[in-house]
Amino acid sequence: MNEQKIISVAIDGPAAAGKSTIAKRVAKILDFTYVDTGAMYRAFTYAVIKAGLNPESEAESCSIIPNTDIELLPNGTVLCNGEDVTKVIREPLVSGNVSYIASYKDIRLALVELQRKMAMSKSVVMDGRDIGTYVLPNAEVKIYQIASVEVRAQRRYIENQEKGIETSMDDVIADVKKRDYIDSHRAFAPLRPAEDAVHLDTDNLTIDEVVEAALKIIEEKTGVKACH
Ligand code: DC
Repeated sequence: MNEQKIISVAIDGPAAAGKSTIAKRVAKILDFTYVDTGAMYRAFTYAVIKAGLNPESEAESCSIIPNTDIELLPNGTVLCNGEDVTKVIREPLVSGNVSYIASYKDIRLALVELQRKMAMSKSVVMDGRDIGTYVLPNAEVKIYQIASVEVRAQRRYIENQEKGIETSMDDVIADVKKRDYIDSHRAFAPLRPAEDAVHLDTDNLTIDEVVEAALKIIEEKTGVKACH
C-alpha cells in the first residue's frame, strides 16, 4: 500500500539524539528503507585512518575519494571497499574523528550523491544532519529530533556499554559537545533545522512514544498510515 508513491522522510538532529533508533523502527513499520548517512561519514573516516592518513587534514582525507567505495546493505551492514566495518565505525577512534571528515566539502558532495540516488528509487527514512536542509530539500516529511546534552550522553553511554565499547561518562559528554560544536559550525551544510521541519523533543519520551509521534507526523504530512 505504502509503495504507490515514493516518499522521503528526513530525520535530522544532533549527535546521539536517538535518530537512528527511531528512523530504523519507523522504516520497518512503514516498509521503507532506512538510510543511516552518519554511518557513511563514519565509514569514510575509517578508510582515512586505515590508509594511514590524518583525518584532520582535508587534502589527505579527500585524496582517497576516488578509491573509496561505501555501501549500505539492506540488513544494516556497512561496507567500506568490500570490508564489513559495521562495528568498527562505532569505536571511539572513528567517533572522535568523524566530524573532521564530515566538514570536508568534497567528501560531503560524494556521499550526498549516493544518498540522493538511494532516495530516488524507493521510499526512505534517512537520518543525518543536513537531510532536510540539503540532501533532500523536497522531502515530504522533515523531523528535527532533539534532546538535552545530558540525556544524549546518557543514551550513548548505555549504548556503548551494550556494544562492549569502554568509555567514561565524562568522555561521552565531551565527545557529544565537541561534535555538536563542529557539526553546527562547519561552513558547508551545517547542522540546523529546516524551516519546514517539525521539532520533536525526546527528553521526556520513551522510544515507543517517539516512534508514535514520528508516525503521526508522517501520517499528517503524507496520509501514509502505519499498519501495526
Ligand atoms: O549520526 P552519527 O553520530 O553516526 O554521525 C556521525 C558524524 O557524521 C557526525 O559527527 C555528524 C556527521 N554527519 C553529517 O555531517 N551529516 C550527516 N548527514 C550525517 C552525519
